[in-house]
Amino acid sequence: MYHKTLLSPLKLTDTLILKNRMIKSPQSTMYWDDDYFMSDRVIDFYESIAQGGVGLLILAGILWYPAHPGGIYGALYDDKYLPGMKKFVERMHRHNCPVFCQFHHTGPSSPSDDKGGRPFGPSRLEQEDMASPLPYLHATRELSLEEIEEHKRRYVDAAVRAREAGFDGVEVHGAHGYFLASFLSRVWNRRTDQYGIQSFESRTRLMVEIMEGIRERCGEDFPIGVRINGEETEGVLFGGCLMAFDLEPGTYAFEMEYVPAGAWAGIAVSAGSILIFILLMRLRGKVPIKR
Ligand SMILES: Cc1cc2nc3c(=O)[nH]c(=O)nc-3n(C[C@H](O)[C@H](O)[C@H](O)COP(=O)(O)O)c2cc1C
Repeated sequence: MYHKTLLSPLKLTDTLILKNRMIKSPQSTMYWDDDYFMSDRVIDFYESIAQGGVGLLILAGILWYPAHPGGIYGALYDDKYLPGMKKFVERMHRHNCPVFCQFHHTGPSSPSDDKGGRPFGPSRLEQEDMASPLPYLHATRELSLEEIEEHKRRYVDAAVRAREAGFDGVEVHGAHGYFLASFLSRVWNRRTDQYGIQSFESRTRLMVEIMEGIRERCGEDFPIGVRINGEETEGVLFGGCLMAFDLEPGTYAFEMEYVPAGAWAGIAVSAGSILIFILLMRLRGKVPIKR
């Protein structure tokens, strides 16, 4: 009975029906060529999974803006990445396997910005504010409202390229302490403006505006997923630091339903954060079930 459900089709949108409910979760590989270009190794890795018959693949770690360090990630922040991405999608489609592109930027969890300066995030934080010591987390700088506007545009432009490359949808990465997750989190976000932490609307504003922008430019029929933490309340002792995460379990998973964009094909619920040394990362958690 269990397998019958797992292997039965799943309608994500009117135009995208998965042949089964097995979805390859997004996992950044270190198989990319220099400067974030597509490599045969990435294609071979994902193609073997597509051949295995999954209902949906999610290609992870695709940058909408250059990040440091390179090597781990692919990119779509420039048209020069389109040929490689088109080749990738075509190879997955040969196996009747749809594929989503998950956009990524480490944001304040980076060692630096792309120019070697402080990593950017919602707020300026000093080294002593960090939940994890060097070399894991670095003092951050606050994005101005103008920069937030530019990043929104870049994110949406990258999604438009994903559509052009033939991807069947995109996933917005709002989990694990990275760029968008940092706006949701009191640990990173100390802003008091319209993107601040003070209300659910303000802390989710950036993510929602990006999704609405994608919706507007890519069309109603282009599926948009979002990955968010359903649980981030934990304390971990590492290097003498107690890391306490303050997000109420399930808040976003519950409340995202009420955001009026109605833009997404699904909400992937994850947990944990890059705030913790990578080997201690706990990227799974209780999935909140509302009904
Ligand atoms: C090496 C590695 C890279 C990962 N990269 C990503 C990523 O780019 N995006 C993402 O949303 N999750 C990423 N994850 C988290 C996975 O999608 C997944 O949540 C985690 O491995 C737990 O999966 P499980 O519950 O099937 O064990 C990564 C995990 C690992 C181990």
